Amino acid sequence: MLSVNHLSVRRGDQWIIRDLSFRLEGIRRLFLQGEIGTGKSTLLQALLGFIPAQQGEIRLFGALCQTEKDFRPFRGRIGFCFQNPDDQLFGPTVLDDVAFGPLNQGLSKPEAYTVARRQLEKLGMDYLKDRSVNVLSGGEKNFVALAGVLAMRPEMLLLDEPTNGLDSKNIKKLTALLRDLNLPMLIASHDSAFTEQLADSVLWLRKPENG
Ligand SMILES: Nc1ncnc2c1ncn2[C@@H]1O[C@H](COP(=O)(O)OP(=O)(O)O)[C@@H](O)[C@H]1O
Ligand SMILES: [Mg+2]
Repeated sequence: MLSVNHLSVRRGDQWIIRDLSFRLEGIRRLFLQGEIGTGKSTLLQALLGFIPAQQGEIRLFGALCQTEKDFRPFRGRIGFCFQNPDDQLFGPTVLDDVAFGPLNQGLSKPEAYTVARRQLEKLGMDYLKDRSVNVLSGGEKNFVALAGVLAMRPEMLLLDEPTNGLDSKNIKKLTALLRDLNLPMLIASHDSAFTEQLADSVLWLRKPENG
């Protein structure tokens, strides 16, 4: 489903990921851990082509992805939540935001808005639907971003620090939600309790030597 072979990624003049190989297959939840700055966010973004890889291979559902054109068809099938939900949400309202993906996938406006409303209901967030995305708390933004991704019925999820901004009650809610989804997931998280609850396996990143 997702396979990475000898991947190296540079940002500026630093190697962030160096010669990394791993696979994600079946309905498994793989967690990325490592100190801040070890490249968890960089790796997730490289996997969908948002950051270019200098070396190595990325295969999504078996297809070798190198150019923007290669990655594009997979950006709906693989749901991605950025570490900062402000990079993801553009509203204007919560409902508009969640409907955006389904509209882009070709649903009619009424269909897309129905899907969006149902998705917000499923997450218990429908009370937010008419609010501007700008007034949401950080935790609410995270859930709305996830609702937007799930509304596209992805076959796999890539989540970057999904517990950011959540209190313990909402971390529990998120944990139960992700467990019920039965989707393969790659999740970057610094939250070790959350990781312990959900991870089938953990991939540890560390800083490569540069030079
Ligand atoms: N736009 C950028 N240009 C250059 N370096 C960057 C950029 N974004 C992040 N970095 C650097 O890349 C490294 C990895 O960052 P990141 O992937 O965000 O790590 P993590 O998610 O593990 O905290 C850090 O040293 C960071 O400073
Ligand atoms: Mg990060």
